[in-house]
Amino acid sequence: MTKRWIQEHHRDAYHRKAQREGYRARSAYKLLEINRRYRIIRQHDRVVDLGCAPGGWLQVIRQLTDGNVFGIDLKRIEPLEGVTFIRGDMTSDEVQEKFIKTVGGRINTVVSDMSPNISGHYSMDHANSIYLAEMALKTADSLLAKGGNFVVKVFEGDLFSSYLDQVKARFSMVKVHNPKASRKSSSEVYVIAKNYYPKERLKESREKEE
Ligand SMILES: C[S@@+](CC[C@H](N)C(=O)[O-])C[C@H]1O[C@@H](n2cnc3c(N)ncnc32)[C@H](O)[C@@H]1O
Repeated sequence: MTKRWIQEHHRDAYHRKAQREGYRARSAYKLLEINRRYRIIRQHDRVVDLGCAPGGWLQVIRQLTDGNVFGIDLKRIEPLEGVTFIRGDMTSDEVQEKFIKTVGGRINTVVSDMSPNISGHYSMDHANSIYLAEMALKTADSLLAKGGNFVVKVFEGDLFSSYLDQVKARFSMVKVHNPKASRKSSSEVYVIAKNYYPKERLKESREKEE
């Protein structure tokens, strides 16, 4: 058995399990695992899913919460009951504005599984992934309620630690998680952040109180 065979077998096993259990994507198991461990989505939460196609994470979110769920992706998705979907590019200011308006209020959890198109050039793919993760953090800043949670996929590389610092400046608990359902060969990790309390926002509200 070669290493490659083991990796492919591992991947196929999750793929078959997803088909059997009715999930649109095997990535559903990553969010299930993250939520089992970190409890980032609770029953009455309003949740936003960035880069949600084909909808595996949306299915998991619908199972976990009876609150409102909002998704966005470049690609179309098959409609899913209880989910408000917008098709568009999260890196466009116009689309972000439209999405935030549609969400129309504070959100408890923002998750992002957005992936760039893979070029095969490691540093370019890493930089593009950091850019998408920054867009996700910007969206979290616009939407999250105080105490809210955030999960974002990032490809590891030299820009990762400064990205992590940006997340740490906003949340009281930040962990880096490597789900079992990720391919062993992949450089992807998930940043799990809980309890949103951006220092600048807190400073502003304290100044107002004084
Ligand atoms: C790995 S897939 C997400 C899978 C999803 N979590 C699921 O369980 O079905 C990554 C998605 O990110 C989306 N994406 C990448 N860049 C984006 C952008 N700028 N705006 C919106 N979606 C984007 C891609 O179209 C792709 O569908």
